[in-house]
Amino acid sequence: MTEFIHRFEPATRAGSPPLLLLHGTGGDENDLLGLGKMISPDSALLSPRGRVLEHGMPRFFRRLAEGVFDEEDVRRRALELGDFVADARKRYGIAAPVAVGFSNGANIAAALLLLKPDVLAGAALLRAMVPLSDPPTANLVGKPVQLLSGQADPIVPASNSAKLAMLLSDAGARVDHRVLPAGHQLSQADVTLARNWIRSVEALA
Ligand code: MLT
Repeated sequence: MTEFIHRFEPATRAGSPPLLLLHGTGGDENDLLGLGKMISPDSALLSPRGRVLEHGMPRFFRRLAEGVFDEEDVRRRALELGDFVADARKRYGIAAPVAVGFSNGANIAAALLLLKPDVLAGAALLRAMVPLSDPPTANLVGKPVQLLSGQADPIVPASNSAKLAMLLSDAGARVDHRVLPAGHQLSQADVTLARNWIRSVEALA
């Protein structure tokens, strides 16, 4: 069992979907707690720190260059994260979480969806890109996925996020893809859209 340094905050209302918060490069387990509370105030929050270091900056998997991933490491780390979530679910008594990932955290969440679909109840992927060039055929039937992309994102080309949306919907996910007038950084619109999306997911559960 691989341990991740993490924070856990219990739910304040039974039935709220637990969130798995996954930070971007250089972030840590504290980074997205505020975002999690904004988008789903009553949810349990499980927030691990990425175990890979790039010049001292935590990440969830290794990359060879910006936007060029070490895919063997992506696969290995996604499975590690999946094991951590399974263990944390037992430890804290929570349901399968909805991932809320930003940038590198969104990319590992996308990899987890493709490699181990049962780990997540759904995912909000903020500034995500295609994590694997040759992903396995996943069964994501009915899984809610929100993809929030930035029109002027210098890291994620529009064609790449469109490809990810296609990959996930081809696997059966219910994909809500929005392209915002933003760059790679998050905007207030991301928070509002993610909050509304989580509410719609909750209503369906
Ligand atoms: C990644 O490496 O996952 C992406 O390039 C996003 C980033 O972390 O900058």
